[in-house]
Amino acid sequence: MATPPERIDAGPVTLRRVRATDAGAIAAAVSASMEYLRPWMPWANPAAAERRSQLARVAEADQWWESGIGFTYSVVTAVGGTLVGEISLHRRAGDHIAEIGYWIAASQAGRGYGTAAGTALTTVALALPGVMRTEIHCDAANGASAAIARKAGYRLDRIEQREPEAPGESGRLMIWVRDRAGPPSGGSGPE
Ligand SMILES: CC(C)(COP(=O)(O)OP(=O)(O)OC[C@H]1O[C@@H](n2cnc3c(N)ncnc32)[C@H](O)[C@@H]1OP(=O)(O)O)[C@@H](O)C(=O)NCCC(=O)NCCS
Repeated sequence: MATPPERIDAGPVTLRRVRATDAGAIAAAVSASMEYLRPWMPWANPAAAERRSQLARVAEADQWWESGIGFTYSVVTAVGGTLVGEISLHRRAGDHIAEIGYWIAASQAGRGYGTAAGTALTTVALALPGVMRTEIHCDAANGASAAIARKAGYRLDRIEQREPEAPGESGRLMIWVRDRAGPPSGGSGPE
């Protein structure tokens, strides 16, 4: 089963497999970023700002990691190790596509952290056996997220209609894709 490394160097930030001791910092970042996250993240609610619920999320992320279907990282500054957000990679059963999702704390936004994290995880994902394509799904109204996709080398493949899941969404879901360069090599979907 192909598993990405637990630590990925992404220039100004480091991606580090999320762990239980991050729960307090994640809850604090979510709490301080609530109004920033709420338009786009369906889970951005008061419960998500509690350490207890983040501990449960980390436990769930551990299960995903061990079963090879989902890999969640804390995004921390390379210097100082401050937690500034999260990024995750999800493999879809039965195909060769992996999807990347992310958030960065409001106080840390606009510093290139989201782009650095998204670019680094994309590179790692496309080198995993069996992953031929990575995708970023974002609402058409989410300009910052689309900017990350564009800067990380993705192309807009299509726009799908769907019910908005968060208050800022328009219901037009952009599917950004980046394909592995070169011929297919090894592996199949998640085992
Ligand atoms: C999307 C998000 C992760 C961006 O993180 P970030 O660290 O601020 O991103 P970066 O600093 O790397 O880059 C942001 C880019 O978006 C651009 N941007 C910001 N707001 C924008 C907008 N409304 N329209 C277009 N571009 C925008 C910035 O100019 C910047 O591009 P530049 O460096 O070329 O100027 C962060 O805004 C966030 O967490 N948002 C809420 C959660 C979310 O939407 N997650 C994604 C769900 S699909």
